Amino acid sequence: MNEPVRVGVVGMGTVGSGVVRLLVESADHIERHAGRRIVVEKAVVKDPSKARDVQVPGGRISGDFRDISRDPSISVAALLVGGLEPARTIMVDLLEHGKDVVTANKALLAEHGPELFELARRKGRSIAFEAAVAGGIPIVAAIGECLAANRIESIRGILNGTSNFILTRMEEDGADYADVLALAQQKGFAEADPSMDVDGTDATQKLAILAHLAFGVWVPWAEIPRMGIEGIDLDLLTYAAELGYRIRLIAVASRSEGRLAMRVAPALVKIGTPLAETRGAYNAVSIVGDAVGRMFFHGLGAGQMPTASAVVADIIDTVVGRAAITFRTTGVLDADSPAAKIGGVDAPDRHFLRIRVKDRPGVLARITGILGDHGISIASVIQHDASSASDAVVPLVIMTHACGSSAIQRAVATIDASDVVSGRSVCLSVLDD
Ligand code: NDP
Ligand code: HSE
Repeated sequence: MNEPVRVGVVGMGTVGSGVVRLLVESADHIERHAGRRIVVEKAVVKDPSKARDVQVPGGRISGDFRDISRDPSISVAALLVGGLEPARTIMVDLLEHGKDVVTANKALLAEHGPELFELARRKGRSIAFEAAVAGGIPIVAAIGECLAANRIESIRGILNGTSNFILTRMEEDGADYADVLALAQQKGFAEADPSMDVDGTDATQKLAILAHLAFGVWVPWAEIPRMGIEGIDLDLLTYAAELGYRIRLIAVASRSEGRLAMRVAPALVKIGTPLAETRGAYNAVSIVGDAVGRMFFHGLGAGQMPTASAVVADIIDTVVGRAAITFRTTGVLDADSPAAKIGGVDAPDRHFLRIRVKDRPGVLARITGILGDHGISIASVIQHDASSASDAVVPLVIMTHACGSSAIQRAVATIDASDVVSGRSVCLSVLDD
C-alpha cells in the first residue's frame, strides 16, 4: 500500500480551517481521487494559543513555519497566509526546502509571481494557485489547460466577492455600505485589509493573473486602471435600476492592437444578463476564445468551503503529479514572459452620468451643450422633482449613446469645472450584453 502524503498547512484562518476540515472530513473521497491517503501532518499559525473551530489531527499546531519547511516527511505545503510579508519569505523557505506549494494568495502572486515561479522551477517544485482567483470557480485550470487550444480574445468578470456582496445587499435591502462591509468581514469574505476589496485592488490583482494565463504576458497589476466601489451609493443603484441596470465591479481585459485594454471599475450591467444576476459573494467570468466562442463561469468567489474546494483540488493535483506537468509545460508566470503593454479601455460604450447640478434655469442646456461639444449624444435624462429652494442641488442622471471613454472623461472634467455643478460627477460605463 502507498504511504500517505503528508501536508503542512501554513495559515488556519478562514481558508486554512476549511482546508483542514475538508482534508479530514472527506479523507476517503479524496483518497479515491489522489490514489493515496492525504493527511494533515501539522499546521502553523501566527498565534497557536488561539481557540480554533477546527482541530488539526493530533493537535500538531505551532507558530514557526520552519516546523513545516524543515520536516522531511512533509512534501506539500498549503500557504494560506495573506499579504506580501511574511507570506513571501515563507513561500521562499518552503520551496528552498523542497516542498510543492499550493496557495490562495493572489496579492503575493501578482506582486512576486515571476521570482517565486522561477525559484520553484530551479528547485524542481510546483506552485498551484487555483484558489487565488474566483474562489471555487476552476478558472485557472479552464484558461491554463482546458482552453489551451484557443487564442483568448477577452476576459470580463466579477472577481471580488466582498464588493459584489456589498452592492447586492445595498440594492436588494437598501443596506448601509459600512454595515454590509462589516458583515462581509464577519463571513470571512473580505481580505485582512478590506480596503483591498472595495478599492478594486483585489480584483485587479486577480485580473492580472488571469491575463497572464490567457495572453502569455506579465501584467504589472498596478498599471491597470482601477476604480473601486467606495463611491457607489444607494441613489446610484436606484437610478441604475430605474434604467433597467444593476451596478457591479467589472474587470475587463481584451486584446487591442498589440496592447491589452484593461480596467477594473464599477459598471452598469443590464438586468437579466448573467453579470447582473451574479449576486452576493458569487463571482462570474466570461471568456471569449477564438475556437470555443464565449464561455461563462459562475460560482462562489469567496468564503471558506468554496475556496477550500479549490485548494484541496490543487493538493490532489500536486499529489498525482498533474500540477507538476501543468507547471512545467505552461511556463506559467515565467520570468522571461514579455511585459504587457497596458492601455485603458476606449471601446465605444454607452455611459451613465450622475451630476449634482444647481437647480437653476439653463443648467440642463449648459450640461448637454458641453456633452455636445465633445461629440457625445444623449439617450435619456432623469431629473426628479426637488426642493423649491433657490440654492438646491439636484441629481441629474444622463444616459449617453456610445462614445469612447476618453471623450466622456474630458467632457465630465469640463462639466465638473463649471459653476453649475456641485461636487464631482460619477461616470460609469454601461454593458448591454
Ligand atoms: P485569515 O486572515 O482568515 O487567516 C490568515 C491565517 O494566517 C491565520 O490563521 C493567521 O494565524 C495566519 N498567519 C498570519 N501571519 C502568520 C505567520 N507569520 N505565520 C504563520 N501563520 C500566519 O485569511 P484568509 O483565510 O481569509 O485568507 C488567506 C489567503 O487566502 C489570503 O491570501 C486571501 O487573499 C486568500 N483567499 C481568501 C478567500 C476568502 O474567502 N477568505 C478566498 C480566496 C482567497 P492566526 O489564526 O493565529 O491569526
Ligand atoms: N476578499 C476576496 C473576495 C476573497 O472578496 O473576493 C476571495 O479572493
